[in-house]
Amino acid sequence: MSNTAILEIDGKKYEFPIIVGTENEVAIDIDKLRGETGAITIDPGYKNSGSCKSEITFLDGEKGILRYRGYSIEDLADKSNFLEVSYLLIFGELPTAADLEKFETNIRKYTLVNEEMKNIIDGFPKNAHPMGVLASLTSALTAFNPKSVDVSNEKEMYEAVCKTMGKFLVIATWTYRKNMGYPLNYYDNTKGYVENFMRLMFELPTGPYKIDTKIINALDKLFILHADHEQNCSTSTVRMVGSSHAGLFASISAGVSALWGPLHGGANQAVLEMLEEIQKNGGDADKYLAKAKDKEDPFRLMGFGHRVYKNFDPRAKIIKKAADDVLATLGVNDPVLTIAKKLEEAALQDEYFKSRNLYPNVDFYSGIIYRALGIPTEMFTVLFAIGRLPGWIAQWKEMRLNKEPIGRPRQVYTGSPLREFVKTENR
Ligand code: ACO
Repeated sequence: MSNTAILEIDGKKYEFPIIVGTENEVAIDIDKLRGETGAITIDPGYKNSGSCKSEITFLDGEKGILRYRGYSIEDLADKSNFLEVSYLLIFGELPTAADLEKFETNIRKYTLVNEEMKNIIDGFPKNAHPMGVLASLTSALTAFNPKSVDVSNEKEMYEAVCKTMGKFLVIATWTYRKNMGYPLNYYDNTKGYVENFMRLMFELPTGPYKIDTKIINALDKLFILHADHEQNCSTSTVRMVGSSHAGLFASISAGVSALWGPLHGGANQAVLEMLEEIQKNGGDADKYLAKAKDKEDPFRLMGFGHRVYKNFDPRAKIIKKAADDVLATLGVNDPVLTIAKKLEEAALQDEYFKSRNLYPNVDFYSGIIYRALGIPTEMFTVLFAIGRLPGWIAQWKEMRLNKEPIGRPRQVYTGSPLREFVKTENR
C-alpha cells in the first residue's frame, strides 16, 4: 500500500501520510489538513475518525476479535482475574506476583471513603437513579482527595489510580444501600475485590453472609469482559475531559454519565425491562419475535445486534457459559429468565436474525446473570461501570502520558449570516 493519500480540492492536490496500525488498520493522518487546505472534515458520530493512537485494546468487529494489550479476551476470561486484568490494562504488562500483590495492597490502602461523603448521599432522594448518584459521588471524591486532582508525576498518578480503584467500588455499592435504606458497608481488606463487591452490596448487620465462589468467579469474568472496549462513547468522554487536565475523578465521573445512556451501558437495563414487559403481557416470546421482525413496528429485540460486532460478539460467547453456570449453581426458577431462554433459542434459529447477523450481545446475558444474583435492574449499568473502570483509567493515563492536546473538534457553521441587532421594542 502507498504511504500517502492524495486529496484534490479545486484542482489542487495535497498529500497526507497514511498510518498503519499493528493489525494493519489504515488511517489517513489529516493533522495538517486545515493548515494546508483551509478545509476540515466532518464526521458526525466519529464513525470514520480515529481520535488517538492507542496501545491498549484491539477490536475487530468483522472477525469478532477483542484483545487487551495483545491478549485475547478468551484467554484472559479463562485464566486471569479482574485485578490482574486491571493492572494489565493500566500498566501495559501482566504483573509479576510481587507487582500484583503491591497493586492489591495499594488499592486496599484506599478502600476507606471519607465519612463526610455520607452527608452527600443523604442529600439525594432515596429513589434517585444509582448512576446519577454514582457520577456525583465520583466527582465529589475530588474535594476529599485534592492531591489526586493535579497529578504532575508518575507517583502521584499511581496513587490516583489506586485511590480510584479502591473508592469507586465502595461508593458504587453505596448507591444501592442508600436506595434500600440499609446501613452503608465498609470494604473488608481481608477479602478479594469482587467478593467485596457482593458483601458491600448484600451483607447485613443482622446475620452472616455466605457467597458461593462460583458466583464470585462468574462476576469476576463479567468485569473482565467489560473492562475495556477502545474508543467507545464513555471512554472517549473520559479522554476528552481529561485532555483539559481535569483530574482522574472528574474524568471518570463524566464517563459514568456517558455510560448511563440507553444507547450505551444502559442497554443491559433495557433488556430486563423488555423481558419483564413480555412476561406482563402473557409471556409469549414468539409474539415479540414477530414484532421485532415487523418493519411497521418500532420494537427491537433488546440485547440483540451490535454496531461493531457483525459476526459475533466474542464476549457474549463467554458470558453465555457464565450465565448457564450461575443459573445452574443458584437453581433459580424465574419466569423472566425462562422467557429470555425461549427468546434466545427462537432468535438464533430464525432466518430474519440469522441473515442479518443479529446475535445476542453482552448486555443480553449480563442482565440475566445480574437478575439471577438478585441485583436490581437499576444497578445493572453501575456494574458495567465497575467493570469498565480500569479501561477508563488506562485510557486517561495513556492520554496524559502521551501529552495529547486538548480535545477541541471544529464544526461547519450552518446558522444565520451576520445580521443587525434589533432592539426589543422594534421586533
Ligand atoms: N431487533 C430486530 N431487528 C434488528 C435489531 C434488533 N435488536 N437490530 C438490528 N435489526 C435489524 C434492523 O432493522 C436492520 O434490518 P434491515 O436491514 O431489514 O433494515 C438490520 O438489522 C441492521 O440493523 P442496523 O440498525 O443497521 O444495525 P446497527 O449496527 O445500526 O445497530 C444496534 C446496532 C443499535 C446495537 C441494534 O442492533 C439494536 O438496536 N439492538 C438492540 C439494542 C441493544 O441491544 N443495544 C446494545 C448494544 S451492545 C452495547 O452497547 C454494549
